[in-house]
Amino acid sequence: MAVPAAVVQLRAAPISPTLQSHLLAAERAARSDAGKSLSWIVSAISSACKTIAARLRTAGIDGNLGAVGNMNVQGESQQALDVIANELLIRELQSREGVAVLGSEENDELLVVDDAQASGVRYSVLFDPLDGSSNLDVGGSVGTIFSIYEVPPGTELELQAGRRQVAAGYVLYGPSTVFVMTMGQGVDMFVLDPSVGTFVRTASNLQIPARGKSYSVNEANFDSFPVGYQRFIADCRKAGYASRYAGAMVADVHRVLLQGGVFLYPPTAKAPKGKLRLMYEANPMAWLLEQAGGMGSTGEFDILDVVPDSLHQRVPVILGSPEDVKALRALL
Ligand code: F6P
Repeated sequence: MAVPAAVVQLRAAPISPTLQSHLLAAERAARSDAGKSLSWIVSAISSACKTIAARLRTAGIDGNLGAVGNMNVQGESQQALDVIANELLIRELQSREGVAVLGSEENDELLVVDDAQASGVRYSVLFDPLDGSSNLDVGGSVGTIFSIYEVPPGTELELQAGRRQVAAGYVLYGPSTVFVMTMGQGVDMFVLDPSVGTFVRTASNLQIPARGKSYSVNEANFDSFPVGYQRFIADCRKAGYASRYAGAMVADVHRVLLQGGVFLYPPTAKAPKGKLRLMYEANPMAWLLEQAGGMGSTGEFDILDVVPDSLHQRVPVILGSPEDVKALRALL
């Protein structure tokens, strides 16, 4: 058909997809109702995290810094923002179609979502609402971590090994708010444009460098690390590695994902089984790193193969570039 002279033809301009359009594309590719509710659930997490980012920015003005006087199930003092972030996530998620169970660092037990209409595949969503919350009062980086599993119809609600995750990710609240996620087809990164309230994709199919130049560990615990960890750290120092530790796992793992190297939380005298939690810290981070070509280990096993025994179970954690993780495992 001839185009009249007065008509301007538009070509599709290359634009960076938003998180919402990325999720819609994932949903179309899945072609199933299950894919649809999974995207819908990740979208709920992103909405809650935008509100968390806003609350963090004004926490000092709103009087929301400091502890609230409660202890969580881990025996850690709850910060006001831990409670706020937890409530925001639960509120967004509990009404989303497809959510069967919620598990949070801040709640002792799993929360079962009662949906009489539910049929088909549903999901359990496990999360650490505000990771690294000791950084809150000093304006340091913190994060949210999430991990999602399928609950097929008619199955028991049981905790599953990390390898069965169907989506996982984290949000880093730093100088910018960064959403990093995988649904099993590589790792994508989005940055929040606060002027319009939208996460915009800034990288696709992220790949971790094979080896890094830094290690990330709380060195104050060095004397109580098993000897293999001590040797590894000594080797890193000799090889000229830098030591980098933010005290918030999300911030430290984000640096490792982008620049390579290794993040460690070994067994210590105080925490002989490790400090970090399997279900909503170690597993989602291990799967993200694996999707980016990295590795996650407890020192003995791949983190993703650990059969969970409880929601708040702790494990030693090694996450990072494949060459660095292999070098450490060889010493353990
Ligand atoms: O899970 C809690 C957490 O705050 C992580 O984000 C962080 O990596 C770690 O604990 C810090 O622990 P520590 O203060 O013992 O180094």
